[in-house]
Amino acid sequence: MRTQVVIVGGGPSGLLLGQLLYKAGIEAIVLERKSRAHVLGRIRAGVLERGLVGLMGEAGVDARMKAEGFVHDGTLIAYDNDMFRVDFTQHTDATVLVYGQTELTRDLYDARDKTGGETRFEVDKVVINDADTDTPFVTFDQDGTHHRIDCDFVAGCDGFHGVSRKTIPASVRREYEKVYPFGWLGVLSETPPVNDELIYANSDRGFALCSMRNANLSRYYIQCDEGDDAANWSDDAFWDELRRRIPPTAAETLITGPALEKSIAPLRSFVTEPMRWGRLFLCGDAAHIVPPTGAKGLNTAASDVHYLNQGLRQFYADNDTHGIDVYSEKALARVWKTERFSWWFSNLMHHSPGQSAFDKKMQLAELALLRDSPEAQAAMALNYVGLPY
Ligand code: APR
Ligand code: PHB
Repeated sequence: MRTQVVIVGGGPSGLLLGQLLYKAGIEAIVLERKSRAHVLGRIRAGVLERGLVGLMGEAGVDARMKAEGFVHDGTLIAYDNDMFRVDFTQHTDATVLVYGQTELTRDLYDARDKTGGETRFEVDKVVINDADTDTPFVTFDQDGTHHRIDCDFVAGCDGFHGVSRKTIPASVRREYEKVYPFGWLGVLSETPPVNDELIYANSDRGFALCSMRNANLSRYYIQCDEGDDAANWSDDAFWDELRRRIPPTAAETLITGPALEKSIAPLRSFVTEPMRWGRLFLCGDAAHIVPPTGAKGLNTAASDVHYLNQGLRQFYADNDTHGIDVYSEKALARVWKTERFSWWFSNLMHHSPGQSAFDKKMQLAELALLRDSPEAQAAMALNYVGLPY
């Protein structure tokens, strides 16, 4: 079997890349470890930057997201029992689109079906071979049969736990990591959102976030201990704690309901360099992880996909390797800026165990600056709606 690009991983990165390559007449085969149903069963944030919304349009997959997504032109920051708003359009010419990542992934799968692009599900033992030569090939098992695909390039879109990053020799890789001493306990409830915009709350009891998926599906988070277990939290205990962490005006109007999903996510920042090794290119969570505070995971995967799509199109159209040669450098330049924003926002909004009284004062001073300074709000707005590609 032969193709032009093998995409390892059928999550948002792999599917978006596959769709963009298809639009350029570049053939790709997607190899996904799980079933389609499993991939579409993941509950993940859906705050889409302008760049990702544009890419979905370029891929021809933006109809439903534009029909069903919610345009947000600001967000609310709560602290000290008060709340202020950061208005994105006051400082940028952009907004964000709130549209569940699960739905975005579903749209991409539906689009791929229409292209006839080959997607192999429930593959096993994927191995990327000879990536540092001009003749890479990928081997894998499926349904008890061993397969080989010869290709020109491999896109490693297989997330943090995939094989792509580890295909790059440890002697070549440089890894950077920060693990935060807390997690996020998230609940999905079939209830109207407490507010039509997101509320990020810094309280003495810890961080809380009020978000949504649609007019009758809400997503809430509270900071929890890193070793905590979702089973330790009854629905009532969650709602009571959430009420204690958000401003009274929100707590009084919060509509609660049974948790359709309840889980804890750890928080980490992680980057691996380089994002290219020979004919292997890493995209998305395969190369970097951000704490969810800034909702940048999917959005940073999108900018990687943008740069790689550009590079591969240039190669196949003009036999010009410039785009792929600068891919890692360009992608990482934006990745690090997004890692910084996610790190900054996480440190600003969470109560770290052992936080000193001085540290707390620093948080309150920065929150007051963000509340009072248009320049500080402009910096946050620019990062939140998405840095330019
Ligand atoms: N072989 C094939 N597929 C694999 C392998 C493997 N060895 N390992 C992992 N996968 C698949 C996973 O099952 C998953 O569907 O790769 C996909 C990776 O998808 P994500 O983890 O979603 O990563 P990515 O596509 O980069 O999306 C980044 O979406 O999932 C969120 O938190 C993530 O917000 C981030 C964004
Ligand atoms: C979510 O809706 O799941 C969400 C929104 C914004 C974030 C993180 C998660 O910053």
